[in-house]
Amino acid sequence: MSMNEQSGDAAKSSNEKTCFIKTYGCQMNVYDSQRMEEALAAAGYRPVASAENADMVILNTCHIREKAAEKVYSELGRLKPLKQQNKDMVIGVAGCVAQAEGAEIIARAPVVDMVFGPQTFQQLPAMLDEIDDGRARGDKPKLVRTEFPAAEKFDALQAIARKPVTRSPSAFVTVQEGCDKFCTFCVVPYTRGEEVSRARADIIAEARALVAEGVSEITLLGQNVNAWEHDGTRLDGLLAQLGEIEGLERLRFTTSHPRDMDAALIAAHGDNKKLMPYLHLPVQSGSDTVLKAMNRKHSASDYIELVKKFRAARPDLALSSDFIVGFPGETEVDFAATMALVEEVNYAQAFSFKYSPRPGTPAADAATQIDEAVKAARLARLQELLNAQQIAFNQAQKGRVLPVLFDKPSKSGDQMSGRSPYLQPVHVPFDSLGNHDAAALRGRILPVEITGAHANSLSGILAL
Ligand code: 5AD
Ligand code: SF4
Repeated sequence: MSMNEQSGDAAKSSNEKTCFIKTYGCQMNVYDSQRMEEALAAAGYRPVASAENADMVILNTCHIREKAAEKVYSELGRLKPLKQQNKDMVIGVAGCVAQAEGAEIIARAPVVDMVFGPQTFQQLPAMLDEIDDGRARGDKPKLVRTEFPAAEKFDALQAIARKPVTRSPSAFVTVQEGCDKFCTFCVVPYTRGEEVSRARADIIAEARALVAEGVSEITLLGQNVNAWEHDGTRLDGLLAQLGEIEGLERLRFTTSHPRDMDAALIAAHGDNKKLMPYLHLPVQSGSDTVLKAMNRKHSASDYIELVKKFRAARPDLALSSDFIVGFPGETEVDFAATMALVEEVNYAQAFSFKYSPRPGTPAADAATQIDEAVKAARLARLQELLNAQQIAFNQAQKGRVLPVLFDKPSKSGDQMSGRSPYLQPVHVPFDSLGNHDAAALRGRILPVEITGAHANSLSGILAL
């Protein structure tokens, strides 16, 4: 999705430069795309809503599953005729495909001018200058930047001013990058590098600046966010400090690894009133054999015990998770264990995937790959169960009054939308607002009586 939807696409003046960033994958990429947009704005680039009118097009890519990576090449195919029309166009591939495939991308898709990994986007303006200089000499420069200076990236984040646009009342802040867990299916340790934590003072400063701009909900991001640590402070301490910022009403963090959960973070779910009662805690499988082969370093019962501790600290906590079906060697018995774990935990929401072999990861070389049809059948069974749990969770909100953080009118244009504590989209019809001005609801947290529950959202009326 473009980060620039609100910016419109007015005709550009002759010396003005424009950019379009297309984002794939996780919230970390959404955050990075916003930062790239800011780096480009400082270099005089205005964001536009489509690639057609853009001088610079960046695909910020995801490498987590094969399909995600292949989408990038089909998009590059679509960009080719546009570049033929606009010879000045610069095409960049950023993110995890860039990190993993580097120069191979240019070999396979010669329309690409620059390839840069998740750690190097602060060099964008300098890279663009290099391309300009090269083209002025009649060359076709191709740049590949995939070094790993994560700490440097965090320094650069400080230098890029976050722009005071009409932003959502909910914002992401990256606090941690990289992963040292090496789950045998996963490319992240290779594409995002080792775990690095951002300095506490920098995070607090960024959060304060966002709150000054009207943000009232912050989601801390990291591939292994609960491994965040700085000067002896762990995530619970950071959340406590953020909780003291006046005007910051809601805190969330994602994604956590079960192994990095500690007692203090569990307790924070009872003590820190700003921490939302919703936790994304991926388990991947309910089978101990599969968990071991995945190198998850925890068993199914470790996970279930952890969930129990969280629920003891915060009885209204709702959970979400990620699952992989058809991991090499997964038997019907293993899959049944996953179904049993889902039954036991009872999720509010979940993401589930067929195992996708990723080149360079240990599981990709296993001889026991599962047939695609078997994977598809298991995924359908798992998703049926997870969907039923999600619908039941949404239904259970009917009649309750939930605090909703309002953001903007929904796409249909006749209702205001916001988020419940459980991240469910909540829609409130304009005609039920009485004398409340819809625009004035933006950024406010107000009680909503839930009157309707759907598969992916709730509806209700203001309960003031
Ligand atoms: N195949 C399928 N799913 C994967 N994930 C990560 N790597 C793979 C893979 N090779 C899923 C995991 C992870 C989520 C972000 O993506 O469930 O938690
Ligand atoms: Fe990948 Fe495992 Fe690290 Fe998560 S914890 S990013 S699944 S290696």
